[in-house]
Amino acid sequence: MLFVVRPRDQARSGVRQAARGAAEAVRVARQMEERGLVVEILDPSGQIYSPAELDQVRSDRALSPDQVHLIQSTCDVLMSANTRAADVFYDRLFALAPDTRPMFEDDLSGQKRKLLDTLGSLVGYLTHPDLFGAAATELGRRHAGYGAEPAHYGLVGQALLASLEELLGRRFTPEVQAAWTALYGQLSRAMMQAQRRPAAS
Ligand code: HEM
Repeated sequence: MLFVVRPRDQARSGVRQAARGAAEAVRVARQMEERGLVVEILDPSGQIYSPAELDQVRSDRALSPDQVHLIQSTCDVLMSANTRAADVFYDRLFALAPDTRPMFEDDLSGQKRKLLDTLGSLVGYLTHPDLFGAAATELGRRHAGYGAEPAHYGLVGQALLASLEELLGRRFTPEVQAAWTALYGQLSRAMMQAQRRPAAS
């Protein structure tokens, strides 16, 4: 996953540098700043960050290894129940936020499959923060076109947590709840940020 660190002043484009991963990109950017340059970072999906923003997003993404394990093991439980997890989720969402129902197709079967597949991929990417970030950014950009508003993200998060509680039963411990809450916070922040900011040309 190549990041590009470049001066904001396009006239100095000769000093742009590639970096493997977000951590290296922030390090390279800091070195360029020490040389007096004002720099920006282009992530692999074309999103532009200042070094401070990318650093913030990166540390935001850092779940502990225990949390990653808790999320991955409970996600397996959800995936093994065919689309029941998605049935429960959309029932919860439409009960909490009936105005979101018309935003989706009448037949939700394809949507349910896509939601579970995407959730599975994102959870799989938790040990690869750059992949997670790029996938969340792409998903966020697509959601601009679906009419998702910031206020909806809170409701979707509530519906997700309530569904997990119902589906996991006694496995929904306070630690599992905290881990999924942290994951949803990171995912929704990254998606909303991507919705607000257009991709670089
Ligand atoms: C972290 C939160 C979310 C996740 C993981 C998620 C996931 C998905 C996925 C995987 C799709 C299938 C299409 C695609 O991949 O682009 C989708 C579509 C959609 N999502 Fe989300 N979503 C989230 C938040 C939201 C929010 C907050 C809303 C606002 C109501 C929303 C409304 C929609 C709509 C309307 C569609 C398109 C339905 C269609 O065109 O048939 N989503 N979402």
